[in-house]
Amino acid sequence: MNKQIKDFKINKICCVGAGYVGGPSMAVLAYKCPKIIVNVVDIDCNKIDNWNSKNLLNLPIYEPGLSEIINKTRNKNLFFSNEIDRCIEEADMVFISVNTPTKTNGIGAGETIDLKYVEACARRIGEKAKGYTIVVEKSTLPVKTAETIKKILDSDSSNIKRNNKTFSILSNPEFLAEGTAVKNLINPDRVLIGGENQIAIDFLKDVYLNWIPLEKIICTNLWSSELSKLTANAFLAQRVSSINSISAICESTGANVTEVSKAVGMDKRIGENFLSPGPGFGGSCFKKDILNLVYIAKYFGLHEVAEFWVQIIKINEWQQKRIYKLIVEKLFGNVSGKKIAFLGFSFKANTNDTRESPAIFIGNYLLKEGAQLSIHDPKVNYEQIKLSFDNPNNLNRDKNSGCWEKVSELSNVFEGADAAIFLTEWDEYRNLNWEKISQTMRKPSWIFDARGILEKEKIINLGLNFWSIGLGS
Ligand code: NAD
Ligand code: UDX
Repeated sequence: MNKQIKDFKINKICCVGAGYVGGPSMAVLAYKCPKIIVNVVDIDCNKIDNWNSKNLLNLPIYEPGLSEIINKTRNKNLFFSNEIDRCIEEADMVFISVNTPTKTNGIGAGETIDLKYVEACARRIGEKAKGYTIVVEKSTLPVKTAETIKKILDSDSSNIKRNNKTFSILSNPEFLAEGTAVKNLINPDRVLIGGENQIAIDFLKDVYLNWIPLEKIICTNLWSSELSKLTANAFLAQRVSSINSISAICESTGANVTEVSKAVGMDKRIGENFLSPGPGFGGSCFKKDILNLVYIAKYFGLHEVAEFWVQIIKINEWQQKRIYKLIVEKLFGNVSGKKIAFLGFSFKANTNDTRESPAIFIGNYLLKEGAQLSIHDPKVNYEQIKLSFDNPNNLNRDKNSGCWEKVSELSNVFEGADAAIFLTEWDEYRNLNWEKISQTMRKPSWIFDARGILEKEKIINLGLNFWSIGLGS
């Protein structure tokens, strides 16, 4: 049955893309809006099978609190499937949550977003949707992408007339952070809706009003909404690079970055969040979104602006390289054949996501030097680590370089190791039995704490060498 605007209601939602955003955001939407049927679709059959897995440990992504919500909603009003066409046809509102990686070839390679997945998705919606449909950009997109989507949706005018198709496009960027996705989705700082058609905006607003207070829902024009998302990520990444640059000064001067962070963050104008030093930011968003901002700035001839943001990425890469170099230096300039324990492989705690993880970059540098990495991570599996190291975008390793293994038992990772590097701030790494560890490592042994999560005294009292990010001696 064709839906027309006069008797329009949001009964069915389709979300295209069942990834880190599509999965959790639709699970929470379904949970909070039991009267709406939510279909989450994807071209990746394996992923859909995993979302439908009876064993909730097999869900394709790990997020605290997610399996409980999936358990309450799945096959009630939340469905995961590969029936993309049917679900688009039936939907009153379609969310686009597909991946938007940085382009690797051609014009804008290494900077702008590759829109091929978004375009494929828009074409399919244009072809299959029936009657009036609200299309919502949830993926992070370059400014003015809504215009492109609209052109694609409206391109087949004969088909549109025949099927009475009409579309409204909204931008509704997602601000969730991995590891806290469920919490962020249930209680977001704000929900941003960009659009031109007030009726469409109100329909989406009504969906969110099922659990989000009106004052937290901000409405802007399309371009402000798209640009706000890029800007928010750029500002967050900028804070991480800022404190990481200070961590290096602390190490040289004898200051303590934790103390500096606290003192600086207590200024209300600065605020205490996002001031933890580390091995550089990872994740699928920060680098990609800054690069996109840089591309936009260059496109409009704003070269100084572009240079400003490029610097944030440069500091990030420099931080990873400097940590790798100091590890090699402390191990007498040679890590060839040495066992190095890697504690954590995900780009942050409480997620199994490894995209752009500092562990990949630091790991690759060390493998190139011939190190033998013994990797532990509570949520990242062997296949994921293999995929991360084999990614052609990563540094190529020499043929005769080092090797790596995945270790499931935490205590085994230290056995015979010359060094242990803490790269992810998993809670279970905070209170280890250092007495036992010190007995199993080869001497002299080094502990490198790239996240500042360990207690120095406990470690040095056992005769282990210790380096911590931003901790001057
Ligand atoms: P993801 O790679 O985890 O998921 C994207 C999914 O889209 C994949 O499963 C892929 O198979 C599917 N897909 C691609 N093309 C398709 C098509 N034509 N039809 C059906 N399915 C298709 O990506 P993600 O991390 O969920 O990110 C999605 C978007 O959200 C990106 O634009 C990202 O920048 C943005 N975002 C991500 C986060 C995050 O924390 N990961 C947070 C906010 C915003
Ligand atoms: C980010 C944004 O926070 C989120 O709003 C957006 O929707 C997607 O991108 P995410 O990448 O999932 O989320 O995690 P985030 O918590 O932002 O961390 C990004 C990286 O910065 C991680 O590698 C993290 O370890 C690092 N980080 C973060 C620090 O090194 N120090 C900090 O103080 C904060």
